[in-house]
Amino acid sequence: MHIRPLSILGLLLPILPAVQANVEKTIFLAPETAIIPSEEPSLDDLGVERLSPQNPVVRTRLNASFPTTATPQGSESWFFLENLNPGQRYEVRVCWLSTQPTSFTLTTYPLSQTIEDTSLLSSLSIYTAARLATLDSQRQADSISRQAGSPKGTKSLDTAPSSDSVLFLRVHAAADYFSTNQTLMQNVPPVAVDLILDPFLFNVFPRSLVPTAGWILVVTVLAVVLGRWIVGEVGRVIDDARRQRSLEEMKNK
Ligand SMILES: *[C@@H]1O[C@H](CO)[C@@H](O)[C@H](O)[C@H]1NC(C)=O
Ligand SMILES: *[C@@H]1O[C@H](CO)[C@@H](O)[C@H](O)[C@H]1NC(C)=O
Repeated sequence: MHIRPLSILGLLLPILPAVQANVEKTIFLAPETAIIPSEEPSLDDLGVERLSPQNPVVRTRLNASFPTTATPQGSESWFFLENLNPGQRYEVRVCWLSTQPTSFTLTTYPLSQTIEDTSLLSSLSIYTAARLATLDSQRQADSISRQAGSPKGTKSLDTAPSSDSVLFLRVHAAADYFSTNQTLMQNVPPVAVDLILDPFLFNVFPRSLVPTAGWILVVTVLAVVLGRWIVGEVGRVIDDARRQRSLEEMKNK
Protein backbone atom coordinates (compact mmCIF):
# COMPACT_ATOMS: atom_id res chain seq x y z
CA MET A 1 0.00 0.00 0.00
CA HIS A 2 2.99 2.28 0.52
CA ILE A 3 3.62 2.02 -3.19
CA ARG A 4 0.48 3.83 -4.26
CA PRO A 5 1.65 7.50 -4.39
CA LEU A 6 4.76 6.46 -6.24
CA SER A 7 2.94 4.36 -8.76
CA ILE A 8 0.62 7.29 -9.49
CA LEU A 9 3.70 9.42 -10.13
CA GLY A 10 5.05 6.69 -12.35
CA LEU A 11 1.84 6.73 -14.34
CA LEU A 12 1.94 10.52 -14.70
CA LEU A 13 5.56 10.83 -15.81
CA PRO A 14 5.12 9.46 -19.32
CA ILE A 15 2.06 11.68 -19.81
CA LEU A 16 3.77 14.96 -18.83
CA PRO A 17 5.79 15.51 -22.04
CA ALA A 18 2.77 14.61 -24.17
CA VAL A 19 0.74 17.37 -22.55
CA GLN A 20 3.34 20.03 -23.38
CA ALA A 21 4.12 19.90 -27.06
CA ASN A 22 5.71 18.16 -30.00
CA VAL A 23 9.38 18.66 -30.70
CA GLU A 24 11.55 18.55 -33.80
CA LYS A 25 15.21 19.48 -33.76
CA THR A 26 18.51 19.77 -35.55
CA ILE A 27 21.95 19.24 -34.01
CA PHE A 28 25.03 21.00 -35.35
CA LEU A 29 28.54 22.17 -34.55
CA ALA A 30 29.03 25.93 -34.46
CA PRO A 31 31.25 27.00 -37.37
CA GLU A 32 34.51 28.93 -37.20
CA THR A 33 34.03 32.66 -36.92
CA ALA A 34 33.33 34.25 -40.27
CA ILE A 35 33.84 37.81 -41.35
CA ILE A 36 30.45 39.42 -41.79
CA PRO A 37 30.72 41.75 -44.77
CA SER A 38 29.97 45.24 -43.60
CA GLU A 39 28.39 46.27 -46.91
CA GLU A 40 25.69 43.59 -46.44
CA PRO A 41 22.39 45.13 -45.40
CA SER A 42 22.20 45.08 -41.62
CA LEU A 43 20.53 41.89 -40.44
CA ASP A 44 17.95 43.97 -38.61
CA ASP A 45 16.90 45.27 -42.01
CA LEU A 46 16.22 41.70 -43.14
CA GLY A 47 13.55 41.31 -40.46
CA VAL A 48 14.92 37.88 -39.61
CA GLU A 49 14.61 36.89 -35.97
CA ARG A 50 17.82 36.01 -34.18
CA LEU A 51 18.76 33.37 -31.67
CA SER A 52 21.93 33.43 -29.61
CA PRO A 53 23.18 31.86 -26.37
CA GLN A 54 22.16 35.15 -24.70
CA ASN A 55 18.73 35.11 -26.32
CA PRO A 56 18.00 31.38 -26.72
CA VAL A 57 14.20 31.36 -27.02
CA VAL A 58 12.01 32.91 -29.70
CA ARG A 59 8.25 32.56 -29.42
CA THR A 60 6.59 33.27 -32.73
CA ARG A 61 4.08 32.13 -35.34
CA LEU A 62 5.28 30.42 -38.48
CA ASN A 63 3.40 30.21 -41.73
CA ALA A 64 2.56 26.64 -42.64
CA SER A 65 1.01 25.09 -45.73
CA PHE A 66 0.07 21.73 -47.11
CA PRO A 67 2.91 20.07 -49.02
CA THR A 68 2.78 20.52 -52.81
CA THR A 69 5.10 19.22 -55.51
CA ALA A 70 6.75 22.65 -55.65
CA THR A 71 7.07 22.90 -51.86
CA PRO A 72 7.13 19.31 -50.56
CA GLN A 73 8.11 20.46 -47.08
CA GLY A 74 5.62 23.31 -46.78
CA SER A 75 6.29 26.97 -46.01
CA GLU A 76 9.70 28.35 -45.17
CA SER A 77 10.84 30.62 -42.38
CA TRP A 78 14.36 31.87 -41.78
CA PHE A 79 16.24 32.66 -38.59
CA PHE A 80 19.73 33.82 -37.76
CA LEU A 81 21.90 32.11 -35.14
CA GLU A 82 24.68 34.33 -33.80
CA ASN A 83 27.30 34.64 -31.07
CA LEU A 84 27.87 30.89 -31.18
CA ASN A 85 30.92 29.31 -29.61
CA PRO A 86 33.00 27.93 -32.54
CA GLY A 87 33.28 24.13 -32.44
CA GLN A 88 30.61 23.73 -29.75
CA ARG A 89 27.66 21.41 -30.36
CA TYR A 90 24.20 22.95 -30.19
CA GLU A 91 20.70 21.93 -31.00
CA VAL A 92 17.80 24.05 -32.14
CA ARG A 93 14.40 22.70 -31.18
CA VAL A 94 11.02 23.76 -32.39
CA CYS A 95 8.16 23.03 -29.98
CA TRP A 96 4.56 23.33 -31.03
CA LEU A 97 1.18 22.33 -29.66
CA SER A 98 -0.20 18.96 -30.63
CA THR A 99 -3.46 20.76 -31.40
CA GLN A 100 -1.74 22.18 -34.51
CA PRO A 101 -0.47 19.07 -36.31
CA THR A 102 2.53 20.15 -38.37
CA SER A 103 5.65 18.49 -39.65
CA PHE A 104 8.79 20.60 -39.33
CA THR A 105 12.17 20.33 -41.02
CA LEU A 106 15.07 22.33 -39.61
CA THR A 107 18.29 22.94 -41.54
CA THR A 108 21.25 25.18 -40.76
CA TYR A 109 23.42 26.85 -43.39
CA PRO A 110 26.72 28.69 -43.04
CA LEU A 111 26.70 32.35 -44.00
CA SER A 112 28.94 31.85 -47.03
CA GLN A 113 26.82 29.00 -48.39
CA THR A 114 23.63 31.03 -47.97
CA ILE A 115 25.09 33.97 -49.85
CA GLU A 116 26.70 31.92 -52.62
CA ASP A 117 23.88 29.44 -53.28
CA THR A 118 21.39 31.27 -55.47
CA SER A 119 18.43 29.07 -54.54
CA LEU A 120 19.05 29.59 -50.81
CA LEU A 121 19.59 33.29 -51.26
CA SER A 122 16.42 33.73 -53.28
CA SER A 123 14.45 31.71 -50.74
CA LEU A 124 15.83 33.91 -47.95
CA SER A 125 15.04 37.06 -49.94
CA ILE A 126 11.47 35.96 -50.58
CA TYR A 127 11.01 35.28 -46.87
CA THR A 128 12.50 38.59 -45.74
CA ALA A 129 10.50 40.53 -48.32
CA ALA A 130 7.25 38.93 -47.12
CA ARG A 131 8.21 39.39 -43.50
CA LEU A 132 9.20 43.03 -43.92
CA ALA A 133 5.90 43.68 -45.67
CA THR A 134 3.91 42.25 -42.76
CA LEU A 135 6.20 43.94 -40.25
CA ASP A 136 6.03 47.29 -42.00
CA SER A 137 2.96 48.50 -40.16
CA GLN A 138 4.35 47.59 -36.74
CA ARG A 139 7.85 48.58 -37.64
CA GLN A 140 7.90 52.14 -36.34
CA ALA A 141 6.62 51.13 -32.91
CA ASP A 142 8.88 48.10 -32.88
CA SER A 143 12.11 49.93 -33.54
CA ILE A 144 11.22 52.64 -31.04
CA SER A 145 10.46 50.13 -28.30
CA ARG A 146 13.59 48.20 -29.17
CA GLN A 147 15.73 51.29 -28.83
CA ALA A 148 14.07 52.29 -25.59
CA GLY A 149 14.06 48.77 -24.22
CA SER A 150 17.65 47.78 -24.89
CA PRO A 151 19.98 50.73 -25.29
CA LYS A 152 22.87 48.35 -24.55
CA GLY A 153 21.84 46.06 -27.39
CA THR A 154 21.81 48.86 -29.95
CA LYS A 155 25.11 50.18 -28.66
CA SER A 156 26.77 46.79 -28.95
CA LEU A 157 25.34 46.48 -32.46
CA ASP A 158 27.13 49.68 -33.45
CA THR A 159 30.43 48.40 -32.15
CA ALA A 160 29.73 44.77 -33.07
CA PRO A 161 32.82 42.90 -34.18
CA SER A 162 32.64 42.08 -37.86
CA SER A 163 33.52 38.44 -37.23
CA ASP A 164 31.22 36.02 -35.43
CA SER A 165 30.23 32.34 -35.45
CA VAL A 166 26.86 32.48 -37.19
CA LEU A 167 24.46 30.25 -39.09
CA PHE A 168 21.25 30.71 -40.96
CA LEU A 169 18.43 28.41 -39.90
CA ARG A 170 15.67 27.44 -42.31
CA VAL A 171 12.46 26.01 -40.88
CA HIS A 172 9.99 24.25 -43.14
CA ALA A 173 6.47 23.87 -41.79
CA ALA A 174 4.04 21.51 -43.52
CA ALA A 175 0.49 21.16 -42.29
CA ASP A 176 -0.18 17.59 -41.24
CA TYR A 177 -3.91 17.25 -40.67
CA PHE A 178 -7.18 16.58 -42.36
CA SER A 179 -10.26 18.54 -41.47
CA THR A 180 -13.82 18.55 -42.74
CA ASN A 181 -13.70 22.30 -42.17
CA GLN A 182 -13.08 23.80 -45.64
CA THR A 183 -11.59 26.99 -44.15
CA LEU A 184 -8.94 24.96 -42.35
CA MET A 185 -8.14 22.92 -45.47
CA GLN A 186 -7.73 26.03 -47.65
CA ASN A 187 -5.97 28.39 -45.26
CA VAL A 188 -3.57 26.76 -42.83
CA PRO A 189 -3.44 28.97 -39.75
CA PRO A 190 0.07 30.04 -38.66
CA VAL A 191 1.58 27.67 -36.11
CA ALA A 192 2.53 29.02 -32.68
CA VAL A 193 6.03 27.77 -31.87
CA ASP A 194 8.92 28.14 -29.49
CA LEU A 195 12.34 27.98 -31.11
CA ILE A 196 15.03 27.09 -28.61
CA LEU A 197 18.79 27.22 -29.05
CA ASP A 198 20.42 24.83 -26.59
CA PRO A 199 24.17 24.29 -26.12
CA PHE A 200 25.34 20.77 -25.28
CA LEU A 201 27.22 20.20 -22.02
CA PHE A 202 30.69 18.84 -22.90
CA ASN A 203 29.32 18.54 -26.46
CA VAL A 204 27.34 15.49 -25.28
CA PHE A 205 24.14 16.45 -23.53
CA PRO A 206 21.65 19.29 -24.12
CA ARG A 207 21.96 21.64 -21.16
CA SER A 208 18.25 22.32 -20.74
CA LEU A 209 17.57 18.59 -20.40
CA VAL A 210 19.72 18.27 -17.27
CA PRO A 211 16.72 18.66 -14.90
CA THR A 212 14.81 16.02 -16.87
CA ALA A 213 17.79 13.68 -16.71
CA GLY A 214 17.96 14.30 -12.96
CA TRP A 215 14.31 13.31 -12.67
CA ILE A 216 14.83 10.16 -14.71
CA LEU A 217 17.80 9.26 -12.49
CA VAL A 218 15.71 9.77 -9.31
CA VAL A 219 12.86 7.69 -10.73
CA THR A 220 15.27 4.95 -11.88
CA VAL A 221 16.93 4.74 -8.46
CA LEU A 222 13.52 4.64 -6.79
CA ALA A 223 12.39 1.92 -9.19
CA VAL A 224 15.46 -0.18 -8.45
CA VAL A 225 15.07 0.23 -4.68
CA LEU A 226 11.35 -0.49 -4.83
CA GLY A 227 11.92 -3.43 -7.16
CA ARG A 228 14.46 -4.99 -4.81
CA TRP A 229 12.09 -4.48 -1.90
CA ILE A 230 9.15 -6.04 -3.75
CA VAL A 231 11.24 -9.03 -4.88
CA GLY A 232 12.42 -9.43 -1.27
CA GLU A 233 8.87 -9.27 0.08
CA VAL A 234 7.50 -11.68 -2.49
CA GLY A 235 10.41 -14.02 -1.85
CA ARG A 236 9.68 -13.87 1.88
CA VAL A 237 5.98 -14.66 1.34
CA ILE A 238 6.91 -17.63 -0.87
CA ASP A 239 9.43 -18.83 1.66
CA ASP A 240 6.81 -18.57 4.41
CA ALA A 241 4.29 -20.50 2.31
CA ARG A 242 6.86 -23.16 1.51
CA ARG A 243 7.89 -23.48 5.13
CA GLN A 244 4.25 -23.75 6.19
CA ARG A 245 3.59 -26.42 3.59
CA SER A 246 6.58 -28.51 4.59
CA LEU A 247 5.49 -28.16 8.20
CA GLU A 248 2.01 -29.39 7.27
CA GLU A 249 3.48 -32.25 5.26
CA MET A 250 5.62 -33.19 8.26
CA LYS A 251 2.52 -33.03 10.48
CA ASN A 252 0.54 -35.24 8.07
CA LYS A 253 3.29 -37.88 7.96
C1 LIG B 1 2.56 34.37 -44.18
O1 LIG B 1 1.33 34.14 -44.81
C2 LIG B 1 0.58 35.31 -45.02
C3 LIG B 1 -0.78 34.89 -45.57
O2 LIG B 1 -0.62 33.98 -46.61
C4 LIG B 1 1.35 36.23 -45.98
O3 LIG B 1 0.62 37.41 -46.21
C5 LIG B 1 2.69 36.56 -45.37
O4 LIG B 1 3.45 37.31 -46.28
C6 LIG B 1 3.44 35.30 -45.03
N1 LIG B 1 4.63 35.67 -44.29
C7 LIG B 1 5.85 35.22 -44.64
C8 LIG B 1 6.97 35.68 -43.81
O5 LIG B 1 6.02 34.47 -45.60
C1 LIG C 1 -13.64 26.37 -39.52
O1 LIG C 1 -12.44 26.78 -38.93
C2 LIG C 1 -12.35 28.19 -38.70
C3 LIG C 1 -10.97 28.50 -38.20
O2 LIG C 1 -10.62 27.72 -37.11
C4 LIG C 1 -13.42 28.60 -37.71
O3 LIG C 1 -13.37 29.99 -37.49
C5 LIG C 1 -14.78 28.20 -38.28
O4 LIG C 1 -15.78 28.49 -37.33
C6 LIG C 1 -14.81 26.73 -38.63
N1 LIG C 1 -16.05 26.43 -39.33
C7 LIG C 1 -16.80 25.38 -39.01
C8 LIG C 1 -18.01 25.19 -39.86
O5 LIG C 1 -16.56 24.67 -38.06
